[in-house]
Amino acid sequence: PQPADLAGRHVVISAGGTREPLDPVRYLGNRSSGKQGYALARTAVARGARVTLIAANTALPDPAGADLRTAGTAEQLREAVLKAAADADAVVMAAAVADFRPAVYATGKIKKQEGADPAPLALVRNPDILAELSAARPRPGQVVVGFAAETDDVLANGRAKLVRKGCDLLVVNEVGEHRAFGSEENEAVILGADGSETAVPYGPKEALADRIWDLVVTRLA
Ligand code: PMT
Repeated sequence: PQPADLAGRHVVISAGGTREPLDPVRYLGNRSSGKQGYALARTAVARGARVTLIAANTALPDPAGADLRTAGTAEQLREAVLKAAADADAVVMAAAVADFRPAVYATGKIKKQEGADPAPLALVRNPDILAELSAARPRPGQVVVGFAAETDDVLANGRAKLVRKGCDLLVVNEVGEHRAFGSEENEAVILGADGSETAVPYGPKEALADRIWDLVVTRLA
């Protein structure tokens, strides 16, 4: 049986991957399925929390007991997360957010010009939701958790990201075409701003989610 150690707490979780439209038929996106974020939502409900789950482009069954909202782009996700975070005890950014979006949205489908080279794709930076939230802390004592999806120098990049983002906990996972993204399992090292490092071995995404909540609970106390 799960401890009800999140009873009376409001937690906000983002899941899935943002899609940044180029034109009405195309987008820039990533391989996130939302499974890790949904596992966080299910385990938080089981531990008694009031859960707001903000899903970006997922195709998963609604987790029972969570208040589900949706967002398509990074800017929409930012708006939804900041709104829900206003009275949240903890926010976990498991969503894969596009760092850049096309500078221009074409209202009609972009056509290929016969015989011409493709035009270069101009990008602009998206807002960094995790960094903004970590700096703002809309509610005093709020615990902010980020993820780091890395393909190389995983821990070193994770440690630098923790400092850059300013969150309390950073869940560092190695990703690849068939690694972490879309699978039922994951493994990670959870870095704390206090210097702690918690290795979570390969296993179901729920098990990693529960270890994250264990660390959040000790920081809420
Ligand atoms: O969804 P699954 O298929 O289950 O896969 C899970 C996962 C691999 C997507 C998940 O475990 C994961 O790693 N999520 C974070 C992906 C990501 O965007 O990592 P990042 O290293 O690019 O970003 C670091 C952190 O900053 C993340 O918490 C991200 O949500 C946040 N961020 C990033 C960019 C941005 N503009 N705003 C942000 O808030």
